[in-house]
Amino acid sequence: MDQMKHIPVLYNEVLELLQPRPGGQYIDGTLGGGGHTKGLLEASAPDGRVLVFDRDAEAIEYAQKRLLTYGERVVFVNASYSTMSEMAAENGFTSVEGVLLDLGLSSRQLADAKRGFAFSLEGPLDMRFDTSTENTAAELINTSNEAELVEIFRRYGEVKQSSRIARLIVANRPFHSTTELAEIIAQDVRRGRIHPATQVFQALRIAVNNELAELERGIEAAVNVLEPGGRLAVIAFHSLEDRIVKNRFRELSKECVCPPEQPICTCDAQPTVKRITHRVVKATDEEVTQNPRSRSARLRVVEKL
Ligand SMILES: C[S@@+](CC[C@H](N)C(=O)[O-])C[C@H]1O[C@@H](n2cnc3c(N)ncnc32)[C@H](O)[C@@H]1O
Repeated sequence: MDQMKHIPVLYNEVLELLQPRPGGQYIDGTLGGGGHTKGLLEASAPDGRVLVFDRDAEAIEYAQKRLLTYGERVVFVNASYSTMSEMAAENGFTSVEGVLLDLGLSSRQLADAKRGFAFSLEGPLDMRFDTSTENTAAELINTSNEAELVEIFRRYGEVKQSSRIARLIVANRPFHSTTELAEIIAQDVRRGRIHPATQVFQALRIAVNNELAELERGIEAAVNVLEPGGRLAVIAFHSLEDRIVKNRFRELSKECVCPPEQPICTCDAQPTVKRITHRVVKATDEEVTQNPRSRSARLRVVEKL
């Protein structure tokens, strides 16, 4: 199989839940290889439009070629999805009926050694989605103090041996390549079911790209840009992301946030969305067999009121 090819996860479920229709306007906040965007364009043919975002210029370039036949029905923006309110207004997307955020990184990015996302491929410690920004993973690893590293590993990787790994890194740095870092971690840290560098690399990637804050802003922007009845679908790949999606959707759909023991509501909270998926949607066994990456995917959908 082509390692660079990204297979969109929960493809049928996303389309069933976003219900694209001819003439509708949609936003794909995480273009990647363009798989979901293609689905939105097909389902909204002949005149539906899709505004797409990716922070990665290479992803935009690749998908532009792939989606060439759709012409002006697809508008490309090389920026974060958190800018979607402004960009939607700028590009005439004034009645958006569906937004998709398919989080994390694509198979193309993971398989490209020079991007530094994979600990098993020799490459620079980069990990930036947007390579025009300043801070790479190498800078983070080589300049943060021990306490800052512990915090990054704990908060973004839920790494059990955060202190031990941070101490090891500080004692052996500078690090320049992915495999150098992975090897030192593997040498010292007890092996469990997964390679001990897995969560460290996840933590570094999240920190380098400020992913959790982006997600909070992205949900806010999406709810803001949707017209009533429009839907937001978010696919998370690990518990930190999914927790944010679940909690934010719960808060946005709640009528009252007063403590349950309080007899009268004083918060005046108004729900802005209703939940469409009451239980998280996961890939079927068949999809997991065909695309192991889908194993950890968690889809949640809300509808703007
Ligand atoms: C899992 S892939 C999306 C795959 C896509 N749905 C497909 O079918 O090919 C996630 C993509 O989102 C991009 N990305 C991550 N964070 C982003 C952000 N805050 N704004 C825009 N794009 C982002 C990554 O660069 C990556 O290309």
